[in-house]
Amino acid sequence: MKKVTVVGAGNVGATAAQRLAEKELADVVLVDIIEGIPQGKTLDLTEAAPIEKHDAHLTGTNTYEASKGSDIVIITAGIPRKPGMSRDDLISTNAGIMKSVTEQIAKASPKAILIIVSNPLDAMCHVAYDTSGFPKNRVIGMAGVLDSARFRAFISMELGVSVENTHAFVLGGHGDTMVPLPRYSTVAGIPITELLSKDRIDAIVERTRNGGAEIVSLLKTGSAYYAPASAAVEMAEAILKDKKKILPCAAYLEGEYGIQGLFIGVPVKLGKNGIEEIIQITLAEEEQNALKNSADAVQDLVETIKKLQ
Ligand code: APR
Repeated sequence: MKKVTVVGAGNVGATAAQRLAEKELADVVLVDIIEGIPQGKTLDLTEAAPIEKHDAHLTGTNTYEASKGSDIVIITAGIPRKPGMSRDDLISTNAGIMKSVTEQIAKASPKAILIIVSNPLDAMCHVAYDTSGFPKNRVIGMAGVLDSARFRAFISMELGVSVENTHAFVLGGHGDTMVPLPRYSTVAGIPITELLSKDRIDAIVERTRNGGAEIVSLLKTGSAYYAPASAAVEMAEAILKDKKKILPCAAYLEGEYGIQGLFIGVPVKLGKNGIEEIIQITLAEEEQNALKNSADAVQDLVETIKKLQ
């Protein structure tokens, strides 16, 4: 069986570990700095295995020994948002955590593919990329799959159709500047621009942009985790099974979409080598401007991190 390490045994990490094991995608190593938490959660999940009918092996630990030689490492370590906070407010704490985690991961699993989940996502990808020294195809940020799943859920609610009929396309950073593309978002292949009025689409786009904040304001003590965990595991599955699946992910761009040296959400092909291709489409001027605006916001955060170091 392949091996996936999940760093951070909190809400997102533990839920991702559960989904990975229950889909029997890999043996799972769950790492956290808090003693007892990863051990307790993996023991609990192991005791559910006879009922859930899987033979994935789960290990909980506070060191990186057991994670050695992982195929994929999903990094969720960090603090989540509280009401009133933006993802960017997490930057100084999470940049420090991301650096220390990535240093240890790069030593234990030098061939792993990293899936970054901690926020602010695009900026955390930079920290992981710079610290690990891994090639760009092996550092991937989870944002677009979550944002487009939210978009899809809202389209399905609006039209009363199966979520399985929906496809959504979201570009840009994981934040207020994300760029949902309605003309490439479809229901059974039909663009939603044919099915919904501009007002309704605008409302859905706005709800998607604020999808994370909507959940933070309801939970009050933390941020979303079921859908973020599902999104990270969908990416891991595409890589583990070498599916060549096109998914929107944060990828390091070197000229694609006119963006240089920045992690930003774009459609990529995921397979056994991680990001195997960046899919480029021609954007309308308005869309290109929105993407540029989003890239500028990510660039500002990257500059902030440089000043912190
Ligand atoms: N090494 C390992 N684990 C760490 C470290 C570290 N250096 N620092 C913190 N952690 C662990 C915490 O102990 C905690 O168990 O990370 C876990 C984070 O879990 P939660 O607080 O439940 O946060 P969660 O909701 O899972 O979100 C984690 O993902 O979606 C993003 O914005 C979110 O940045 C946040 C991250």
